[in-house]
Amino acid sequence: MLVSATEMLKKAKEGHYAVGQFNINNLEWTKAILATAQELNSPVILGVSEGAGKYMTGFKTVAAMVKAMIEEMNITVPVALHLDHGTYDGCYKCIKAGFSSIMFDGSHYPIEENVEKTKELVKVAHAMGLSIEAEVGSIGGEEDGVVGMGECADPDECKAIADLGIDFLAAGIGNIHGKYPANWQGLSFETLDKIQAKTGDMPLVLHGGTGIPADMIKKAIDLGVAKINVNTECQLSFAAATREYIEAGKDQQGKGYDPRKLLAPGAAAIKETVKEKMELFGSVGKA
Ligand code: 13P
Repeated sequence: MLVSATEMLKKAKEGHYAVGQFNINNLEWTKAILATAQELNSPVILGVSEGAGKYMTGFKTVAAMVKAMIEEMNITVPVALHLDHGTYDGCYKCIKAGFSSIMFDGSHYPIEENVEKTKELVKVAHAMGLSIEAEVGSIGGEEDGVVGMGECADPDECKAIADLGIDFLAAGIGNIHGKYPANWQGLSFETLDKIQAKTGDMPLVLHGGTGIPADMIKKAIDLGVAKINVNTECQLSFAAATREYIEAGKDQQGKGYDPRKLLAPGAAAIKETVKEKMELFGSVGKA
């Protein structure tokens, strides 16, 4: 069932668990994530970056594929199709394409401009029944060529954006996209605590879910995080399983080169990663 992410995240915040956003790259990813959510009776958010959208030929293709898969696979758990780190133009494209949720990432604009653009997009998204995420304090690491330095967001700026009527808020707390470097300082729970004190019921979003130790994830959920984004970890699992298959020479045996066989171990590995995360986040059985 394609829905906005508003209700599922409100419930998650109240119930002290988090819903995973798993980024999709192609049909295998989408199918694996949807199947796992259904098997575990968990709500799920499918994240699509602008780069991944382009790779899949455009947001219209993505929306059509996801909607059709939900129907053909009899997916009854709540599924949100969400633009990840959207630009202003990207948000409009996804609204038009039939997404059920968008993220406007205005974190690189001066706060006044971030407020102004977010405010406009809140109005448009809500009028069309979509949920909207906004961002304060850019998330570190590199994603689709956008490099952030892993800032800690200013709690007052978080409040200013939260007050615009957004549905959930991504705030930097020292998290970064991709693998964490060996000298990473960890999440700033002090910042998270201050942000939650200013933003109250607002579900908070933790980007860069790959590689954050389980105890930090649990503490972040205790402090108000209700959505956790995971991308790189599924890519790493997929790549490792595919490498193993090829290194074992299985693509050379029989019709092992058939894409349905060649991509199967990678898809199974994604399912395993998604399952582990849903169990850790506490969303199993919450659909
Ligand atoms: P990772 O790739 O580090 O899991 O981060 C995903 C993310 O935050 C997408 O917005």
